Amino acid sequence: MNKNLLRVEKYEPEVEALIDEVVDGFTSRQKQLPCKLFYDKEGSSLFDEICTLDEYYLTRTERAIMRDNIGAIANTIGENSLLIELGSGSSRKIRLLLDNLKNPAGYVPIDISEEHLVDSVRSLANDYPDLRIMPVYADYTQLVKFPDFDFPYSRKVVYYPGSTIGNFSPPAARRFMKNIAGWSGRGSGLLIGVDLVKDKGVLERAYNDGRGVTAKFNLNILKRLNREIGTDFNLGKWEHYARYDSSKNRIEMHLRSLADQMVHVNGSVFGVKRGETILTEYSYKYTLKGFKELVSGSFAVEKVWTDVDMNFSVQYLTVL
Ligand code: AVJ
Repeated sequence: MNKNLLRVEKYEPEVEALIDEVVDGFTSRQKQLPCKLFYDKEGSSLFDEICTLDEYYLTRTERAIMRDNIGAIANTIGENSLLIELGSGSSRKIRLLLDNLKNPAGYVPIDISEEHLVDSVRSLANDYPDLRIMPVYADYTQLVKFPDFDFPYSRKVVYYPGSTIGNFSPPAARRFMKNIAGWSGRGSGLLIGVDLVKDKGVLERAYNDGRGVTAKFNLNILKRLNREIGTDFNLGKWEHYARYDSSKNRIEMHLRSLADQMVHVNGSVFGVKRGETILTEYSYKYTLKGFKELVSGSFAVEKVWTDVDMNFSVQYLTVL
């Protein structure tokens, strides 16, 4: 086998970009890794498993809110709407909407997991043979605009469930919301799931489940980097660590080093002290008032649905 060819294969742009991101993240004082790296094939199925855990109240609470209010939600979205989902994953949540909306004009799932996208589009096409589906394989945080839609529809409605907005710091969330508004245009809608500020114990249990699925999900990042960019993380020397910072309204998820150790990333060496952490994810929680203020530059909050305990919210916003 020709060595040069092998080299070319190994240095494809995606791998280089990933290396850059990792080196970048390891160069700052608080080492960090981007949370989108969770979602390779194994990570995506671990996340699906997290969503079924007793401690992880988010998914089931959001689903209950959607179910309990689906008539009002479908009315608010209206007829002939074009649904665009950011981070569609296995496209399971959209089905409740598809089953209850009047003549949806189309469905545009956007996801970074190609496998998830392909599988879910295939199964949706089978179950909704009349539905126009336009999958987009992309990192939606890097999107510049939506594709052109050259068919009739009444309005665009972006669907962004799961409180994924919580992964952004508030300033970044504000900027991202502004982007969504810009891509969609005035009068468009956004149906968004937003997790709410609550008791610290409930929150910390949700990110430290008893069966260790979240720990596995977190550690899977290192496994992925070893495989994809040839780092040498020793998985036995890292542990999952998650805590809630009440002053910042956020869960912080880290990988904590169990020893003084070294990690090689593409020729660079990074020393890590015992007890030092790599930040892998923020998950911000909002009050209804706080979220309304956050989006006020680009959206008006039209409707808010919550569960009785106010653990989670589903909100319908319109672009100003
Ligand atoms: C998909 C970002 C909403 O923050 O709760 C679950 C990801 N991380 N358990 C969240 C996650 C750990 C999840 N979001």
